[in-house]
Amino acid sequence: MRILVVGSGGREHALVWKIFQSKLTDQIFCAPGNGGISGLAECVDIKADDIEGLLQFCRKEKIDLTVVGPEAPLAAGIVDEFRKAKLRIFGPEKKAAQLEASKVFSKQIMAKYNVPTACFKVFDDVSLAIKHIENRSMPCVVKADGLAAGKGVVVAKSVSEAVEAVKMMMEERVFGDAGKRVIIEDCLDGQEASILVFTDSKEVIPLVSSQDHKRIFDNDVGPNTGGMGAYSPAPVVTVELFEEIIEKIVNRTIDGLAKEGIEYRGVLYAGVMFTKDGPQALEFNVRFGDPETEVILPRLKSDLVEVMLAVSEGKLNKISKFGGLSWDSRACVCVVCSSGGYPGEYDKGKEISGLADAEKIKDVVVFHAGTKRVGDKIVSNGGRVLGVTGVGDTIKAAIDKTYQAVGKIKFDGMHYRRDIGKKAV
Ligand code: AMP
Ligand code: GLY
Repeated sequence: MRILVVGSGGREHALVWKIFQSKLTDQIFCAPGNGGISGLAECVDIKADDIEGLLQFCRKEKIDLTVVGPEAPLAAGIVDEFRKAKLRIFGPEKKAAQLEASKVFSKQIMAKYNVPTACFKVFDDVSLAIKHIENRSMPCVVKADGLAAGKGVVVAKSVSEAVEAVKMMMEERVFGDAGKRVIIEDCLDGQEASILVFTDSKEVIPLVSSQDHKRIFDNDVGPNTGGMGAYSPAPVVTVELFEEIIEKIVNRTIDGLAKEGIEYRGVLYAGVMFTKDGPQALEFNVRFGDPETEVILPRLKSDLVEVMLAVSEGKLNKISKFGGLSWDSRACVCVVCSSGGYPGEYDKGKEISGLADAEKIKDVVVFHAGTKRVGDKIVSNGGRVLGVTGVGDTIKAAIDKTYQAVGKIKFDGMHYRRDIGKKAV
């Protein structure tokens, strides 16, 4: 098969790496890809949100399956356009992608179908939102309705912080139209984990649990980032809790959507918080997580392409019938190396050394997040640059191996957290 992966980050490198191992794969393309991906796939210069460009490419190159990494093209309806053109694609249609693209839609589905989540109110008027904040207890959480590149959530400790967040979203429109409406909800407390499932709306097959680290500095200090590392499994998710999440959060949502006439085909990501009242849904994403994918796929023993084909054709029962997915019982850890200054301003074009030495270590793979190939060199080309990933018998062993590999890699200004996975030990 000829397969196109859409996107350019560490998640997409992990997808390409796993798709490369499939017996069904003949050739992989990636749009636009990055320096690491170019070792396994032919990178094509089409942006991830250029739906028309991607469509034309797939027609011309007779692509058998397109796999979408990021949320923006899904929210813009890439799957609907491909299906109309009779092209096979992995991901949810536009209506289903609202689960991530509109937090209001997502919370309304959760409320209607009894999915445990924080109590909330929706506002499209600034003064009513502020009045509500002044009359409620703190802390609270203010969320922009639309896509805001992971920055649209403010956990406010005081009335003034919450009011400031509302003004920033609704008046200053820092996130554009994504801040036309906001959600104000109760602040929950507890550990978090990510639960991803494959679904074709009829069947649900869970992936292994994982947990990411959103803050830039050790001990969860500093501003939020796209994710500075992850580990799998997340020990906080016991077998009982896992079943409860699938039943009360995942199945109720997918069945609820079906009742609304919305079929969900793809991977569904539930961000969950483990509170004293049980697991509560924080958010849904309609795609693979980044860097969660980098710690999940190295543990997957089954053929990813087979599963994605089954999902996209609505025949996931073919996979369940033969025992579902098979997993490596070992643990996996990913440490993200970022450019100095990220998530603020940073330089690009720094030469990276030690990649080959890092990958000589058994069970280590270096996923590229923001890199570019220049001649025979790899240089940095983004905020998150690399996701160094290691598998070990225990989380502790995986942590040690991963940091051993990180120690081989250098570039000017390189930053990484020293405590990835520590919470799980
Ligand atoms: P979201 O994009 O909705 O997952 O929010 C991003 C992050 O904000 C989550 O991973 C949580 O750490 C935090 N968060 C979101 N909603 C809440 C909530 N109701 N209570 C406490 N923290 C929250
Ligand atoms: N790691 C969080 C996300 O992918 O949204």
